[in-house]
Amino acid sequence: MSGPILIFDSGVGGLSVTAALRARLPAATLAYVCDNAMLPYGTKADDWLVSRIVATCTSAVSASGAVALVVACNTASTLALRELRARLTIPVVGTVPAIKPAAQLSASRVIGLLATSATVNRAYTQTLIEDFAADCRIVRVAADGLVGEAERQLAGLAPDARMFEQALAPLWAEPTLDTVVLGCTHFPLLRQRLEASAPRAINWVDSGEAIARRVASVLGTSGQAGGREGRAWASAPGATLAATLAGYGFSSLEALALPADTLTLPH
Ligand code: DGL
Repeated sequence: MSGPILIFDSGVGGLSVTAALRARLPAATLAYVCDNAMLPYGTKADDWLVSRIVATCTSAVSASGAVALVVACNTASTLALRELRARLTIPVVGTVPAIKPAAQLSASRVIGLLATSATVNRAYTQTLIEDFAADCRIVRVAADGLVGEAERQLAGLAPDARMFEQALAPLWAEPTLDTVVLGCTHFPLLRQRLEASAPRAINWVDSGEAIARRVASVLGTSGQAGGREGRAWASAPGATLAATLAGYGFSSLEALALPADTLTLPH
């Protein structure tokens, strides 16, 4: 049986991995699901998020007939990969901050981690740092506001320059920092703006290539995936999102059915 590779994120962040996936698996069909009704994930309570992520992914996997799920969201992956793998029978490929490649690149051993507040504080992230960058100083910067900036950019709205300035200031306060991990899939979409704001040349590291490599090794490079091209699902579909997704090859946007007990945030 064949079906698409389903990419999941809270919002448009997962679109930052589509190019790498298409380059590595040109014969594969991609599908997309986002939980934009609950965006951003990075500031929500963990317990609630786990059930919401599992509900969103299981519903979209069954609607799409996916052969693999790419959790193109660091915030979701560092929290819910185990639960997703327990609930789904297809392979689940996660996204974690690219600490290891960053540590291989950094000459100064001072590295910035730009991610959501959830991701910078997760135990998963701490373990990655201890395992792969124990000799580096990691400057953790919670930049939840930049998630909204990426959403705005893809919706064709003007950026808030002050948001960028404030979010990035802690990085540029470190005179020897030479590498920045884009630990949120929304952030590679802002790459041009991020580069323009840097006071010096920086190694920007994201997880797109590593995800595509992993999916190819899990599925095999022969392009086993198939199914109807260009389908997408969202918890809050709308015209602006539909236009953005169409620009990335997902031209049919449908509403995602979700169980009632995950529809509202806990008080
Ligand atoms: N794109 C998601 C990530 O990689 C986070 C966005 C959010 O906070 O919803 O972490």
